[in-house]
Amino acid sequence: MKGLFNLREIPIVKINEIVSEALSFKKGEKSVSYLDKKMATLFFENSTRTHYSFIAAMLNLNITPVQVNLEGSSMKKGESLYDTIKMFECAGYDGVVVRHTKDNYYSELTGINMPIFNGGDGISDHPTQTLLDLTTIYEEFGYFKGLKICIIGDISHSRVAHGDAEIMKRLGMKVSICGPQEFLDDTAPSMSPDEAVKESDIIMLLRVQFERHEKNMGLSLTEYHQKFGLTKSRALKMNEGAIIMHPAPLNRGVEIANEVVECKKSRIFAQMTNGVFTRMAVIYMVLEGML
Ligand code: CP
Repeated sequence: MKGLFNLREIPIVKINEIVSEALSFKKGEKSVSYLDKKMATLFFENSTRTHYSFIAAMLNLNITPVQVNLEGSSMKKGESLYDTIKMFECAGYDGVVVRHTKDNYYSELTGINMPIFNGGDGISDHPTQTLLDLTTIYEEFGYFKGLKICIIGDISHSRVAHGDAEIMKRLGMKVSICGPQEFLDDTAPSMSPDEAVKESDIIMLLRVQFERHEKNMGLSLTEYHQKFGLTKSRALKMNEGAIIMHPAPLNRGVEIANEVVECKKSRIFAQMTNGVFTRMAVIYMVLEGML
């Protein structure tokens, strides 16, 4: 199948190439136009950043974006995901972006010849988020090897934590995790939030993903903020040169204090800007057969 599904089988050399292409688009060193192409977006889960930055990326590449209204689609009449996506291929679309609640939904799509871009699947992967995170880190530090990142929050329900940790380890970064015991898994070794701020080059915060929980969290939101949130006092203890990241959406006052969101160390909004350029790079490389 053509497109981008996860990063596990993509060699490091290609990952570096995507980051480099993204930064070339950002600096205005590269410009590509696909006036005759159209792509559709199918989001089975809510999204602001991924959906609308993919659309911005398409518009920047002169691709016509078509947002599919799933409520009005024939999936409501029982049509399968495969048959729905096959229709877009038959109708001459040049690609689709799909976000789905199901892990590996794309395993049902063998037989589709049009490129598919994974906008996030269940708790497995969110490859363009991971790539924009890498673009942001590379833009900041100029390298990956040896950088220490601690991912703090609801690790076990997070496709970002799982996808990011896998590739960051392959890139030679030192990954650790932090959060309430009920949210930890075997993604990486764990540490306390106070150790994390002292030792890390990058603190990456995650939202508590209540919509994926089967039981109530054992902490109130205030307790969570005090025990695991990036409070102003914890942010002040971070190393000089260290940065704060978050895939967003943010829950201000829960995983991050309101006043920390736009502090000097924060790259949270830079991540969103880089999302557009990274998605341009991915679309371009897939359409050109480079990925
Ligand atoms: N980071 C991210 O995937 O955000 P959205 O859910 O808004 O797309």
